[in-house]
Amino acid sequence: MKSTAPRNRPWDVRDLPRAEGKNVLVTGGNAGIGYFVAEQLAGAGAVVTLGSRDPAKAEAAAGSIRARVPGAEVRHVRLDLADLSSLEHAVGSLGPCRLDAVVHNAGVALDDPPRRETEDGHELMFGTNHLGHLALTRWLAPLLTQAPAGRIVTVGSFAAKSERLDLDDLQSREDYVPKRAYARSKLAQMYVGLELARRLGALGSPVSSVVVHPGGALDSLTPARPPVHRRTSGERLRGLPAALVLQGKHAGAWPAVRAVLDPRVRTGELWGPRAFGLRGRPHREAVWSQLTDTAVASQLWSASCELLDIDPEFLRGGRACS
Ligand SMILES: NC(=O)c1ccc[n+]([C@@H]2O[C@H](COP(=O)([O-])OP(=O)(O)OC[C@H]3O[C@@H](n4cnc5c(N)ncnc54)[C@H](OP(=O)(O)O)[C@@H]3O)[C@@H](O)[C@H]2O)c1
Repeated sequence: MKSTAPRNRPWDVRDLPRAEGKNVLVTGGNAGIGYFVAEQLAGAGAVVTLGSRDPAKAEAAAGSIRARVPGAEVRHVRLDLADLSSLEHAVGSLGPCRLDAVVHNAGVALDDPPRRETEDGHELMFGTNHLGHLALTRWLAPLLTQAPAGRIVTVGSFAAKSERLDLDDLQSREDYVPKRAYARSKLAQMYVGLELARRLGALGSPVSSVVVHPGGALDSLTPARPPVHRRTSGERLRGLPAALVLQGKHAGAWPAVRAVLDPRVRTGELWGPRAFGLRGRPHREAVWSQLTDTAVASQLWSASCELLDIDPEFLRGGRACS
């Protein structure tokens, strides 16, 4: 994505390069980290679309951004990653036939059993976080290709760092541990973000793919954005000790915002917060060792495309954007 940032200027989260006229879709842009990604990108002048399953929440988020960013161009589309059949229509309602970047941010994390499934019969976290975003990428690919330098930004998680995939039980049918299923769903997303970079590169595509993670981002450390996010002074005070190691969702947004706006961020890279991967300004990290296993990435890609019943070569495209 082209930007006005001088190439040698240090990255400053409070002085973002301008991005007027760039179209960016943020999944889950109605709340949490996604809201702040959208607010910060709108502040840089980008035209931001919030992908949200709840139009009322999306309208409230868009209103909050407009109130804080004079002249912000924010819209929203109904997008439910747990309902695969809805995604083609969601992409069709995006409007312009060109997308400069998508931030695959939306996510669901369950803490307790029972194991739940999406409408399509996939384990809820694997189905929403991983399969939903891969299916969305399939529909978005023609729009991203229309941009001079389209970019896919995948929001992973530090929780995935110590995790491994079970390729024989991707859907946690045999052994369901909610926190592990969440971490594996995020790991699967990160594998696919890097596999996308390899596949797009091999095709000579102008589209790039970057993986980021937000560190540890708590609501109690997040500035209020009523009615999207309210925080009492009691919550703020109780959250203060955590600020030594963690951060708010406004800061959790920074790696994704940098990945969208900074041309120095390259395809196939991993970015996260500077301090122990948990808080602070975004910096480039070495790709975690398990994520360098391209055989696992390739098997996951094939298995996921089969579950979605899509052509594993869909990036070769040919489908026109109308
Ligand atoms: N917070 C952290 O410390 C942390 C750490 C590592 C990674 N992450 C990742 O960062 C991303 C954002 O996290 P967060 O803390 O901001 O979470 P959050 O506050 O719970 O927000 C999640 C967002 O995802 C949306 N979403 C959930 N299911 C969806 C679906 N089926 N279709 C469309 N949208 C859906 C939610 O929409 P609704 O409002 O409709 O529910 C909401 O907008 C997630 O991918 C998460 O895995 C977060």
